[in-house]
Amino acid sequence: TNKIQIAIDGPAGAGKSTIAKIVAEALGYTYIDTGAMYRAVTYKALKRNIKLNDAKALEEMLLGTSIELKPSENGQLVYVDGEDVSQLIRSNEVTNNVSQVSAHPNIRKILVNMQKDLASSGGIVMDGRDIGTQVLKEAQLKIFMSASVEERAKRRLLDNESRGILSDIETLKKEITKRDKLDSEREASPLIQADDAIYLDTTNLSIIEAADVILKLARDKM
Ligand code: C5P
Repeated sequence: TNKIQIAIDGPAGAGKSTIAKIVAEALGYTYIDTGAMYRAVTYKALKRNIKLNDAKALEEMLLGTSIELKPSENGQLVYVDGEDVSQLIRSNEVTNNVSQVSAHPNIRKILVNMQKDLASSGGIVMDGRDIGTQVLKEAQLKIFMSASVEERAKRRLLDNESRGILSDIETLKKEITKRDKLDSEREASPLIQADDAIYLDTTNLSIIEAADVILKLARDKM
């Protein structure tokens, strides 16, 4: 069968990465979490005390940074300058600041080029915000995945719990809504559904059900 590219975009907490991982594994494809790359840049900038509104300083930092994505059993490990930051980039501090970093066109340009390179060897499932509209415009299958804010906040709560992070649902709802607004209203490649993307509402779907929908669509394209 033909190896295809699958682009999955959508707002925070819609289940993209969990579902994308399952789809990739089922097909024997490579999974790439592009959000992790924006998080990695944000993590290093915070650590270095670089102002997140200073696009030039961020770019200089990024050009001297190695970001590596390595496949692992539960998805993907992220290394910044050789350090495994897979857990560190999921902190609340990074989560609540990443949209400021990802709004800079110069930073996006560098990461988008890296993402295109990573995808060049076929058989790929990539998730993010601009995969269908910018990174993999020619992807054979594009999904725009969403769920109600209530449901997304609930999932984030459980996810945080499993990682030992305490949070409350109202705060999470506010944070998610704020991040969606920043990501959707930014000038550079805002979060938007590609014309040729299929809308998938996961509010009432289990992880396996959502993955099955995508797998069926994918197999039709092979
Ligand atoms: O997917 P995740 O929630 O980890 O993404 C973190 C942030 O990275 C998003 O809120 C968004 O600001 C940014 N991002 C982006 N473009 C992508 C992936 C993520 O701007 N392709």
